[in-house]
Amino acid sequence: MKNSSDFEFDDLQGLLRFGHGKLTDTCFMLLNIVDATAARQWLNSAPVSNAVETEILPKTALQIAFSAQGLQAIGVKDSVIEGFSDEFITGMSGDESRSRRLGDVDKNAPKKWLWGGNTAQIPHILLLLYALPSGIDSWRKTVQGKKFSKAFKVLSQLPTQYIGEIEPFGFADGFSQPSIDWQRQQSTDPHDRNGYSNVLAVGEVLLGYPNEYGQYTARPLINPIADKDAAILPNAEDVSGLKDFGRNGSYLVLRQLDQDVPGFWQFVAKAAGSDPEKRKQLAAAMVGRNIDGKPLVSTIVEDIPGIERTDNRNHFTYDADPVGHECPIGAHIRRTNPRTGDLPLGVTGFISRLKKILGFGESRHDEDLVASSRFHRLVRRARTYGPMLTPKDAIKPDAPTDERGLQFICLVANIARQFEFVQNAWAMSSKFNGLQQESDPLLGHRQPLMSGEVTDQFNQPTPAGPMQKTCPLPQFITVRGGGYFFMPGLRALKYLATLPSQGSDSTS
Ligand code: HEM
Repeated sequence: MKNSSDFEFDDLQGLLRFGHGKLTDTCFMLLNIVDATAARQWLNSAPVSNAVETEILPKTALQIAFSAQGLQAIGVKDSVIEGFSDEFITGMSGDESRSRRLGDVDKNAPKKWLWGGNTAQIPHILLLLYALPSGIDSWRKTVQGKKFSKAFKVLSQLPTQYIGEIEPFGFADGFSQPSIDWQRQQSTDPHDRNGYSNVLAVGEVLLGYPNEYGQYTARPLINPIADKDAAILPNAEDVSGLKDFGRNGSYLVLRQLDQDVPGFWQFVAKAAGSDPEKRKQLAAAMVGRNIDGKPLVSTIVEDIPGIERTDNRNHFTYDADPVGHECPIGAHIRRTNPRTGDLPLGVTGFISRLKKILGFGESRHDEDLVASSRFHRLVRRARTYGPMLTPKDAIKPDAPTDERGLQFICLVANIARQFEFVQNAWAMSSKFNGLQQESDPLLGHRQPLMSGEVTDQFNQPTPAGPMQKTCPLPQFITVRGGGYFFMPGLRALKYLATLPSQGSDSTS
């Protein structure tokens, strides 16, 4: 494949490629299918947006994703659904050990969620509508059209509200993203690499393509002889004669995360004292960036594949800051993307690469956990909700306490290896990269470990002296709902729309 225009963008839902950032008016709906035939008819003519670039920016977009229950309700056979990953089938709240690993305990526990918290509450469909400012109501009417009210029950409309290119604590957000190797030109062999690359194999975000291991992630493949309707699906690239229901589809992880904005800034004010500069520094250390997005580590001059040299907000690694003097190791962005890791520190040039590959290099105890960050990247597509509250107003004792937060969305090809790993091993773990007694300063639930060890600290190493310790950190973010969905390719949507009424046509 030579250039990105060869890619099947007409079969891909647009959210992955574009993010629809200019379409700031949104409506996220959770639906249950009540009449599968009507649902298929609606889907057949639904104006779902693809990923083809157009000269004129579209004024609206529609994307659709299904839970495992939703696929079953629209008529997909169990034998097909079984081809998806276990975590998708079990669901985000489907077993206790998963909830524990994701940090969904205590105030975050699924039984307290507004939606998705138990099997009976899992929505079938997530409908994502995007429009230019003030355009959402008429777009919603157009999308619903005929058949909608016969086909679906609207379980809820999730809150969303645009407050600018920031998240509710006030930090610039959403601009550090992997760039996707649509041309499929980058080698996945680590021996071919000199260091961190921001370019990610297509198979890390879409099913049906080789991932960063050079392998195809498991997904439902259908024999078109046994299932004639499957003829519409793309061919499986890796298995001849089979059709690929997963190709050009991604898993979509959604988590409704409430942010206690007054709680965050009032804690920072108390912990840092009256000096506004110190307050800004503590908050920035927790995030790993200044409020305007500037990274705390210096930007570097060498090339990073997939990042423009001029992109000062992203043109950096943590190589020159190994112990976290500039950006604490436990900062949110350093936990969720440790960046340098494919080849550990000091491994540049042929001889030292060879030594490392042959096992003669020195190793640091923390290399393993952060090694190969390329296997744990996320494409993030969050939207905010709740009214804007500036840090200055949030610090006031009578600051309004409206519900605010993120509808956190990420797109991945492997929920366990990407979202769950980042959330569990990197963000929530109190044993990340040599750290102890702390978890992600933004996301942590602050519950002690079974051993009684605390997790509510935040430590900043200082070049001059002792560790600067901030504790006990309160919980700033609470999970209010969540689910795992599958966002199919356009041909897979057509397949769903034309499924026969037999099969498992249950609407449970
Ligand atoms: C309400 C919850 C959250 C808030 C307020 C938040 C805030 C932020 C901010 C301010 C940034 C820096 C902007 C950027 O680099 O684009 C960021 C980056 C990031 N966040 Fe979060 N985040 C939240 C939840 C999560 C969750 C649940 C995950 C994954 C489990 C996550 C993963 C990431 C990643 C991967 C980055 C990019 C890091 C990098 O590439 O350097 N975030 N977040």
